[in-house]
Amino acid sequence: MRTFHALPDAPITSLPSFLEAGGGLGLRRALESGPAAVLDAIDEAGVRGRGGAGFPTGRKWRSVLSEPTRGDRVDVVVNAAEGEPGTFKDRALLRANPYLVLEGALVAAHTVGASRVIVATKAAYATELSALERAVGELREAGWLDGVEVVVVRGPDHYLYGEETALLEVIEGEEPLPRHLPPYQYGLFSAEPQLGWSAGTDDGSGGSNPSLVNNVETYAHVALVMQHGSEWYRSLGADSSPGPTIVTITGDVRRAVVAEVELGHPLREVIDELAGGVGPGRRIKAVLSGVSNPVLVGDALDAPMTYEALAAAGGGLGSAGFVVYDDTRNMVDVAHQVSRFLHVESCGQCNACKGGTFDITVALEQLVLDGEISERALWRLRRSLETVTDGGRCYLPVQEQRLITSLLQRFPDDLDERAGGAPGDPDVVLPKLVDLVDGVAVVDAEMLLKQPDWTYAETPVRLGPRVVREPAV
Ligand SMILES: Cc1cc2nc3c(=O)[nH]c(=O)nc-3n(C[C@H](O)[C@H](O)[C@H](O)COP(=O)(O)O)c2cc1C
Ligand code: SF4
Repeated sequence: MRTFHALPDAPITSLPSFLEAGGGLGLRRALESGPAAVLDAIDEAGVRGRGGAGFPTGRKWRSVLSEPTRGDRVDVVVNAAEGEPGTFKDRALLRANPYLVLEGALVAAHTVGASRVIVATKAAYATELSALERAVGELREAGWLDGVEVVVVRGPDHYLYGEETALLEVIEGEEPLPRHLPPYQYGLFSAEPQLGWSAGTDDGSGGSNPSLVNNVETYAHVALVMQHGSEWYRSLGADSSPGPTIVTITGDVRRAVVAEVELGHPLREVIDELAGGVGPGRRIKAVLSGVSNPVLVGDALDAPMTYEALAAAGGGLGSAGFVVYDDTRNMVDVAHQVSRFLHVESCGQCNACKGGTFDITVALEQLVLDGEISERALWRLRRSLETVTDGGRCYLPVQEQRLITSLLQRFPDDLDERAGGAPGDPDVVLPKLVDLVDGVAVVDAEMLLKQPDWTYAETPVRLGPRVVREPAV
């Protein structure tokens, strides 16, 4: 099942080794054939963005090219901010094959007419930064970057930084606060329009400066398509979800793993074969696909791993970061961890998060930490889950609604158990990954110390008040 197309078993550590493995051919072909042929090849291959939504890559590139207010400045941005809990694929790829990612980004630059490639990653990702900088240096020396400037940005360790409009803010030197309008319309240092959204500083170019933002793995796939052809790419994976993908599997499995597979295998097989399934005598209770989709349960685990099939099964593929929970877990405890993460990582620009994700997290705290919740608070929890998406600038409150609602609705016995006073399980983890070493996931120990103002407390602090019991008279 395991395959190698983008992610090699052993890291590629020099340009000559990359060339020996067929690297560089994709860029050469793109330069020879020109932008129109590259766009056709990507469309024919059916490449879909690997940043989570599976958006058709060719369509996005064409939007950037045809943006009517485009002006002179167009940037290609590599979204290398990976911060989704349970996902480690972009960091694995940057460590093992930074050349392929940069090759795909250079294909993009030549296709959309950009003279800049900006790789936006995190200052905390030291191993990835050194692999990237080595690769950029070698490519520069070899003349690959003639006419294209490559800049590596070291951003903050906040989840929102990965949201594409917040990514642009950070590149402009601001905090990662999402904007209203998408990068393919209004990109870096755009001067217009001033329609109540946070435009950046005008750099004098006078246009809307569309920026092309794609995920790390998406650019690697573009390079593969140009190297091997669209038919080859379509021969992998499934009709509607072609190609390979890099999965991360963590949680209650025998070994945590990051590995490349073709799309289309049943999810349960992928978990069993790559991660050894769950422990002896246990069964899989639920699988999270990051924190962006509803939880996968029961028969959904036998669905093929494609965008469509997992959505039809009530969940989603997301960025293929699967967190497995076995039948010892109470899913209200998981809901609490997810809601806390999303609230703390939200930015507070909109009431959706200031009020909505806060109220939901506080109700879940009461269930998990106090083992008690009033009827009125339960009603408010349900109501907040219905309204949390109202007026949000970005997708984060939608994630809250989809995932938390599914966890509470699909596990009513777990809700009864916590509402009945059974204490929460302190060992339930939502793995924000720092590393994967020899089958063990290294989880960010500071995650539970982070506060909604993005500072860190010395010990975990709850967000809301405790339930105060009325004295029984
Ligand atoms: C809260 C939030 C966090 C995100 N984090 C990431 C991320 O770390 N990396 C990423 O590639 N996309 C992330 N995305 C999705 C990006 O906004 C964007 O859709 C993606 O980079 C597009 O690339 P693609 O078309 O190649 O998939 C995030 C989205 C949201 C709403
Ligand atoms: S919806 Fe939430 S995270 Fe998104 S911009 Fe508004 S407050 Fe920030």
